[in-house]
Amino acid sequence: MNFNLSEEHLMIQQAARDFAQAELLPGVIERDNEQKFPHEQVRKMGELGFLGMMVDPQYGGAGMDSISYVLAMEEIAKVDASAAVVMSVNNSLVCAGLEKYCNEEQKQKYLKPLASGEVIGAFALSEPEAGSDATSQKTTAVDMGDHYLLNGTKNWITNGGNAAYYIVIAQTDPEKKHKGINAFIVEKGWEGFEIGPKEDKLGIRGSDTHSLLFTDVKVPKENRIGEDGFGFNFAMGVLNGGRIGIASQALGIASGAYELALKYAKERKAFGTEIINHQAIAFKLADMATQITAARMLCFKAAAEKDQGLDISESGAMAKLYSSQVAMDTTIEAVQIHGGYGYVKEYHVERMMRDAKITQIYEGTSEIQKIVISRSISKK
Ligand code: CAA
Repeated sequence: MNFNLSEEHLMIQQAARDFAQAELLPGVIERDNEQKFPHEQVRKMGELGFLGMMVDPQYGGAGMDSISYVLAMEEIAKVDASAAVVMSVNNSLVCAGLEKYCNEEQKQKYLKPLASGEVIGAFALSEPEAGSDATSQKTTAVDMGDHYLLNGTKNWITNGGNAAYYIVIAQTDPEKKHKGINAFIVEKGWEGFEIGPKEDKLGIRGSDTHSLLFTDVKVPKENRIGEDGFGFNFAMGVLNGGRIGIASQALGIASGAYELALKYAKERKAFGTEIINHQAIAFKLADMATQITAARMLCFKAAAEKDQGLDISESGAMAKLYSSQVAMDTTIEAVQIHGGYGYVKEYHVERMMRDAKITQIYEGTSEIQKIVISRSISKK
């Protein structure tokens, strides 16, 4: 087993690191304060190939592997977790789903602009009463012959205000339960499609989260993804990969907070020495470094298995479960190491602590990851 990164991986990591320092760090506190979407930065991420990293170049993507994606996500999330979630949703939930499950016509029309970063996309599964219990979709898509009539509400949709295209999951035949669910590509601006107000969030405040309202929206039949009734399996398949993205985002938040805490501990003096020389601080940093390394290995394992075409439901869920816990624990300790400075915005770690929490909630709560893992291990 070789733990070394290839030259190409190191180059991608460095490119993402340079981009994050030059383009994301300036203004990250202001964007968090003002809940300002990083429009210009997302446009540049598209130019650099970060929005369609794993998509085949014939569809506008960068044609990279999933390890590259983990590396780039970590570097972006280290500095700006809001920009990282925009990237994660576009790559893992939108582009990956379209590339794997859409027909050629749909790929030409929708995947190309999304993978090249010309526009961004959103993934709309969650509802007021169907977050974790995803089979209980209340949004309906009634088959009208040449089109479906879409009605309902989606909640907490990342990229909700800024997306051009939305993958919307809806119930077509309630009697068939999850086998009656479909996934559709819906365009912004279609009649009857309204975007609700932006959510005022605890963290990832630079990203935009909205509810979506559909009233008699006509969705052409050619915008359904896959066979009739494939929508739930589509969503589950997409989310397996999405969990690698969020695990990498969590990893990035953790390693960003750790690096700031380490630097601070080497500079700050108390009781006549740099605080890193006190075991109370050194042991915290030792725990952080160990946990971050373990989280990174879980992310790499899931990414490597994805590239081998293996079932990643278990490894993706493990990576997300563990990395999000590490993000939470590490950011709390990073604030503690910074003492009073940690509690003010200028030092970044309080933002990271707020940003970390969502990684235990979206794309399946930690409890959902445990359901996925326990079901998988019980089959062995
Ligand atoms: N991978 C592939 N297929 C899966 C799967 C997985 N991880 N989990 C379930 N399935 C399939 C099953 O095989 C089954 O298919 P068949 O009938 O064809 O055999 C079908 O899905 C139904 O399975 P279950 O009966 O097990 O379904 P369930 O109702 O018990 O729910 C669940 C399973 C794992 C709890 C699922 O509901 C789930 O993952 N919930 C969480 C949803 C989620 O992550 N929501 C987040 C929204 S997206 C988001 O947050 C984006 C963002 O903004 C950043």
